[in-house]
Amino acid sequence: MKETGKIWMNGKLIPFKDAKVHVLTHALHYSTAVFEGIRCYNTPDGSAIFRLPEHVDRFFNSAKMYGMKMRYSKKQISNAIIKTVKTSGLKECYIRPLAYYGYGTMGLTPTLNKVDVSIACWKWKMGESKAGKFSGAKCKISKWIRIDSKSQPMQSKSAANYSNAALARVEALKNGYDEAIMLNNKGNVAEGSAENIFVVKNGIIKTPPLDADILNGITRDSVIQLIKKEHMKLVEKNITVNELLKADEVFMTGTAAEVKSVTKIDKNAIGNGSIGEITKELQKSFMNIVMGKDKRFVRWLTCL
Ligand SMILES: Cc1ncc(COP(=O)(O)O)c(C=O)c1O
Repeated sequence: MKETGKIWMNGKLIPFKDAKVHVLTHALHYSTAVFEGIRCYNTPDGSAIFRLPEHVDRFFNSAKMYGMKMRYSKKQISNAIIKTVKTSGLKECYIRPLAYYGYGTMGLTPTLNKVDVSIACWKWKMGESKAGKFSGAKCKISKWIRIDSKSQPMQSKSAANYSNAALARVEALKNGYDEAIMLNNKGNVAEGSAENIFVVKNGIIKTPPLDADILNGITRDSVIQLIKKEHMKLVEKNITVNELLKADEVFMTGTAAEVKSVTKIDKNAIGNGSIGEITKELQKSFMNIVMGKDKRFVRWLTCL
C-alpha cells in the first residue's frame, strides 16, 4: 500500500503511518466494527465522490443495527471524508470510513467501550484485475453459505459479515476462479463475496431482493435506477442456481467492481462465454454516470 496523505481518527488528521490502534482494541477480537467503501472519481470537472450521502447513511444505519453510538453527526463524517480526500492530494481514490469499538475494557460486551471512527483513503487499482470487468470473471459457487439475516443483520456492512465472505473468496481463488458466488440458506443466489449479482434472460434483468441475505449495495441501487430510467425490464426476485447457470448474461455490481461481467460459473459458460450486450451497455452507462457525463445523475456526485 502506498501511504499517501493522512488518516482521520476521531476528529484529527494523523500521518498515515501513525494511524494505529492498541492490540486489545475490542473490534480486533470480536469483529465489532462497521465500515464503508466509497469511491472518488477523477471526472473531467474535477474529483467527485460517488453517492456520498447514501454511503454515509448506510454507515450510520450499519452502526445503528449493532446499537453502536456514533460520536459524530452525518454532516461531520461527510465533511471529514471530504477533508481526508482533499488532504491526500489524490484525484481519485477508494475511501474507507470505519467505526469500531475501541480499546478500554476487554470481554465480549462491546458497549463498555467507546466507538472510535477513522477515515482513510488510498489509491486502489480496481476493476482491472484478473476478474476484470472487460474480460469477464470466472466464478465459483461457494460451498460456504451466506450468513442468514436471522443470525446477524446482513444489511449492516459489518466486519462480522466478512469472515464468511473471505472464506468464499479464498475458496474461489484456490480453485483457480476469480470470485465466489454465495447462496443463501434457502439455496437461492445471494451475492458475490463483495458484490451484488444480476442475471439477464431473454432481455429481462433479475436480481435477488434485499431479503435474500444480501447487502443493500449502492452500486446495485444505482444500476437499478439506471435500468428503470432506460425503460429496460427489471425484476427483483429470488434466483435459483438453475436460473443462474441458464442465464444469457450475469454481471456483478459493487463500489470496487463497478459493473463486472461474469462469463463462467463453475464449469459452465454463461451465454456464449463472453461479455453480454446488456452488461456492456450498463457498464458504459455506469461509467458515464460516475464520470459526470450523464446529466440525469450528476446529483450523485459530490464535487470536491
Ligand atoms: C457483501 C457485499 N455485497 C455487495 C456489495 C456492493 O455494495 P456497494 O455497491 O455499495 O459497494 C459489497 C461491497 O462492499 C459487499 O461487500
